[in-house]
Amino acid sequence: MRSAQMNSAGGKDVKQTILPHGIKKAIIVDKWTLSDIECLAIGAFSPLTGFMEEADYHTVVETMRLANGAVWPLPVTLAVDADEHDDLVPGDSILLRGEDGVDYAILQVNSCFVPDKRREAELVFRTVDLAHPGVKKLFEKPNLYVGGPVEILQKPRPERFSDFYLTPAETRERFRENGWKTVVGFQTRNPVHRAHEYIQKAALEIVDGLFLNPLMGETKSDDVPAQVRMKSYLSLLENYYPHNRVLLGAFPAAMRYAGPREAVFHALVRKNYGCTHFIVGRDHAGVGDYYGTYDAQHIFSEFAPGELGIQLLFFEHSFYCKACQGMATTKTCPHDKDSHMTLSGTKVREMLRNGITPPPEFTRPEVATVLIAGLKASK
Ligand code: ADX
Repeated sequence: MRSAQMNSAGGKDVKQTILPHGIKKAIIVDKWTLSDIECLAIGAFSPLTGFMEEADYHTVVETMRLANGAVWPLPVTLAVDADEHDDLVPGDSILLRGEDGVDYAILQVNSCFVPDKRREAELVFRTVDLAHPGVKKLFEKPNLYVGGPVEILQKPRPERFSDFYLTPAETRERFRENGWKTVVGFQTRNPVHRAHEYIQKAALEIVDGLFLNPLMGETKSDDVPAQVRMKSYLSLLENYYPHNRVLLGAFPAAMRYAGPREAVFHALVRKNYGCTHFIVGRDHAGVGDYYGTYDAQHIFSEFAPGELGIQLLFFEHSFYCKACQGMATTKTCPHDKDSHMTLSGTKVREMLRNGITPPPEFTRPEVATVLIAGLKASK
């Protein structure tokens, strides 16, 4: 008989040798899945309340909509090993257990199906290239999808910065307390560089508050670790932002790198957190050269005005212009490329990892100091 740990009442240390009544089995899930469970549980993925069942999965992949017609661009699925779990049938209840042995949730199995991963990759990622981190992840997952509502037993505990893990109900409350009627959401998986700051502050000129909502779940290995980034955000906010107009909150999800479709997903999630506006800049959620610079903006024209329930703020590629002596885009700067300072994210990460401070026109020195120290410590 398998052993189970019950956490809802007694916490991590209470052990039980039998599974709770009505539970068929426990399945070990990875950190990525745990971050999805957390997002489902707190309402960040509303209207989803669980892992996708077959009908929703198909319409989401094919049409970016749930079976009921609501816009939803990305599959949120639980993949399990088909051989190991061929006994699962609709009507079963299973425990979702972390690699740490903690039981985090119960899944009510409504649907078990084998996905067409190639089709999923083509439509969701616009490529089947295994060098794409999202596609790689998709094909590494096991082959049986199990869908149904999820009941949370215990939220995963963040390693650090737990105060910043606000639920959508909590962020809405904070926005209300602050008297913000309009709030712009900002997604990032990177440190906030001058270009990010420029577009955030441009948006802040027209709305009441900024919700800086960095993604804290799994990212590809060469992205700056979330804990290091978090420290850099605090240092930047402390020194360069009006404290009464910014809220920093962690977005627990993992990064999919699905470019355009992920931009729509990010916008819907920030609506759930209570934002009225959402920023989409250049190559949002992109990776390598898989997406055109503004594909993640163009995709929004596929929806009827007002359908998403959040207003998009699109920004051009921004940079520091030596001739203008300030941040700009081609919309505001008359000078040619020779005057523009641009550094690729890869180049900047390489500099920081080697202890080299990027130019202040690219990264604020306070931020660079925190990042260099953090990356050194995390080696
Ligand atoms: S993302 O994968 O989370 O989108 P990143 O953290 O780089 O990546 O970007 C956060 C947001 O800033 C996205 O909306 C992105 O389009 C925008 N952005 C990043 N760099 C620039 C830039 N130089 N100019 C304009 N927008 C940018």
